[in-house]
Amino acid sequence: MATPERRREQLVELYRDVRACTLCPLHETRTQAVFGAGNANADLMFVGEAPGQQEDLQGIPFVGRAGRLLDELLAENGLERGDVFICNVLKSRPPGNRDPEPEEIAACKPYLFRQVELIEPTVICTLGNFATKLLTRSNTGISRVHGVPQVHQVGGRAVQVFPIYHPAAGLRTPRVKELLREDFAKLPALLAAGPPEQPGAAAERARGPAADAPAHVQPGLFD
Ligand code: URA
Repeated sequence: MATPERRREQLVELYRDVRACTLCPLHETRTQAVFGAGNANADLMFVGEAPGQQEDLQGIPFVGRAGRLLDELLAENGLERGDVFICNVLKSRPPGNRDPEPEEIAACKPYLFRQVELIEPTVICTLGNFATKLLTRSNTGISRVHGVPQVHQVGGRAVQVFPIYHPAAGLRTPRVKELLREDFAKLPALLAAGPPEQPGAAAERARGPAADAPAHVQPGLFD
């Protein structure tokens, strides 16, 4: 396992790659790529769909109306942005907030997997259909899978993938907002349960615990 300092350095390298990325045509229309923000050592990671207008302008994920609902839900559960890492499947805004195209997801997903590999979260909360389908490798829609954790290998590690509705859907439909609240309230217990058993965990246990300390990532610091 990398030291917190090394992990942070590698995350900064990845941040630079993402900001300069031209792998898909979205780089021609975006204001800037939105890497993600939060705690490089977070146990809990949120993965949304793609930056919207405000995110594209500010370079920070979930800063619009949906982001304010996300902040509210975090606070209701004793969490704030500095405790978690928030990012999206796509790092660039699709024009007019249209749905991501399969080729855009294919071009961008190695960045997400590398973020997971470096941050090593215990729980990845997928917000809405795009992130959920990508990380569960299933076509089952969010209305059938929300609120129930699934163990998956992501970025080379076993993690609890916890699908919930996208906050934007909660803004549109009061019943969905209620379901979001109910599902969010399950997060503290899921986090307290710790990581799922890793392949090779027994050998790692035999080597003893590694020193670990928080390292914070704030995109503004990297420019
Ligand atoms: N919706 C998303 O999926 N991500 C954002 O960053 C903002 C809105």
